Amino acid sequence: MSFRPPKGTDDILPPDSRRWRRVLRAFDDLAERFGYDLIVYPVFDSTEIFARGVGEGTDVVQKEMYTFKDRGGRSITLRPEATASVVRAYLASGSQIPMKLAYAGPMFRYERPQAGRRRQFWQVGVEYLGEDSPQADVEVIELGYRFYQTIGLEGLEVQVNSLGDPTSRAAHRGALTEFLEGIRSHLSEDSRTRIETNPLRVLDSKEDHSKLQGAPLPAEFLSDESVEHYAAVKQGLQQASIPFVENPRLVRGLDYYTRTVFEYVATRLDVAQNAVGGGGRYDQLAEVLGGRHVPAVGFSLGIDRIVLALGEEAGLRPALDAFIIVADEQRRQAAVGLVRELRARHLRADMEPGPRSVKAQFKSADRRQALYAIVVGDEWDDGEVTIRDLDKGEEVRVARERISTYLRIGGEAE
Ligand code: HAM
Repeated sequence: MSFRPPKGTDDILPPDSRRWRRVLRAFDDLAERFGYDLIVYPVFDSTEIFARGVGEGTDVVQKEMYTFKDRGGRSITLRPEATASVVRAYLASGSQIPMKLAYAGPMFRYERPQAGRRRQFWQVGVEYLGEDSPQADVEVIELGYRFYQTIGLEGLEVQVNSLGDPTSRAAHRGALTEFLEGIRSHLSEDSRTRIETNPLRVLDSKEDHSKLQGAPLPAEFLSDESVEHYAAVKQGLQQASIPFVENPRLVRGLDYYTRTVFEYVATRLDVAQNAVGGGGRYDQLAEVLGGRHVPAVGFSLGIDRIVLALGEEAGLRPALDAFIIVADEQRRQAAVGLVRELRARHLRADMEPGPRSVKAQFKSADRRQALYAIVVGDEWDDGEVTIRDLDKGEEVRVARERISTYLRIGGEAE
């Protein structure tokens, strides 16, 4: 039996998983500060939610879903994305008020695996439901931007566009289809199929980019209200000092978008998968699912790609603040008490659970990547411990009541 995970999936172990934890925590913290509550909802949903919500003509629905019949004969799909289910949950809750929701978890798409394109991948995201003000779009885009700033992702570009309302989208689709029919024979096979299923996607085709000069763009079909809404979003972004570029060909891969769409692009990653996040407004989605009118905007950010883009240089802080060393077994209870106290003081502390030689314990401290080893030995009776800086190899005696302060200040001076 092979121990490898299934194709296109990964086991994320230490030390890499420490980067994941840092990134997930940073997002959770920021989303909470922006007023987003947590939503936890099923990893699978009825297939219809995605077929209708994401759109029959999209690659996600046509080629990428993990769909199966459960033992009760229901068609079930592992969630390929979050937004459709979050809207379903909101409608199920019967809530009438704007709701700001954040989530994190695995999504599933049967894609051709490569670096940054996985079959199981993690997204974090927010959905601001029940609000059509452009200020909501700005807030959502800002939250994503601040998140990338917090985790130190360099070379990030925020791209924005507006797709307009359903009427302007339909008008644009008509004109675009006509244009594409005219150049059909010059287009790639993929794009030719898409003329029928999803002509909008041809616009951001990398393969056919050069043949699309003069293709009708969504911007040319916007209604006055959509123009106004888009202008207010751009103004809001400027006021928030968020640099962005307008990408008139940005259309996104899912069908539910109206008006604002945006993408966060890591310019240092390979073009094929350099979108580290994306989102937009989807004012019609709730109705498409059979609910009432719920204007909404949100984004999802791809954790796998973000960690990839952060690369080695993001650095890893040591896994533990202190590893406690029991100098002789009589001191074990004192050492256990010390670990407990440090943990209660929000320090990361650990020790060996059973007898080991002092040498073996120091080895563990190194292997566990602790900043300091704290030796509980004879000096304990004088109210002191010995603290060794595991990087520099220097040792000092520190009074017991000063240990946590020492760990903190020493840690900061590092
Ligand atoms: P999406 O553009 O399909 O949007 O996905 C968002 C992000 O998830 C992408 O930018 C990428 O970083 C990551 N991602 C997507 N597919 C993969 C994959 N196969 N492997 C690794 N990472 C991937 C959505 O999912 C929408 N729900 C966003 C949204 C929320 N719109 C409104 N609210």
